[in-house]
Amino acid sequence: MQRALFDDAPSDERLGPEAFVFRRLVQESVAEELETAIASVIAAAPLRHMTVPGGGTMSVGTTSCGALGWCSDARGYRYEPNDPQSGRPWPPIPEPMSRLAKIAAARAGFMGFEPDSCLVNRYAPRTKMGLHRDADERDFAWPIVSVSIGLPATFVFGGLRRRDPVVRVPLEHGDVVVWGGVDRLRYHGVLPVRPGAWPHRTNLTFRRAG
Ligand code: SIN
Ligand code: FE2
Repeated sequence: MQRALFDDAPSDERLGPEAFVFRRLVQESVAEELETAIASVIAAAPLRHMTVPGGGTMSVGTTSCGALGWCSDARGYRYEPNDPQSGRPWPPIPEPMSRLAKIAAARAGFMGFEPDSCLVNRYAPRTKMGLHRDADERDFAWPIVSVSIGLPATFVFGGLRRRDPVVRVPLEHGDVVVWGGVDRLRYHGVLPVRPGAWPHRTNLTFRRAG
């Protein structure tokens, strides 16, 4: 594992044969563009707390952009072309967001990644994401690209079975995690986010869903 010479240069860490953390891949100027893009998505499709099949409510606020948006309700998880809250199509993925997703996927060895879905997760302090797999997509040949903005968090990365051991990966503003190939269906989650220098943490999860 090689650290870059300069603090703000991206550096790579490996979580598996086809799973990587790219530290600070998002430069500050790009982070500002992303914040603006995220605000425009949220203005068109507001954050909401989705119901999960067990009947509970997710602690993180979620919305989507792209041709397909990830949805959860009492009946289960699925991708929808329209925002169920408005009945309108999800807003398109803003260009600075899809550009970053493609760069990150290519850096992990997945050339030609064209995300058709970006889930926006907003973590207020003390909210979390339980251990789960991303398994609602049609073709697992494409990777997951996950971008962290704002408050730091501890990402938990497990194995292919829920009971497999996990590693805890601290993620900071600008870090990008990509997992695909043999690592595509690994369990993962986020520990409760601690309050800090930002009002919240935003995670962007780019996928090829359809
Ligand atoms: C997720 O897996 O849905 C979110 C991951 C993260 O917030 O880092
Ligand atoms: Fe996930």
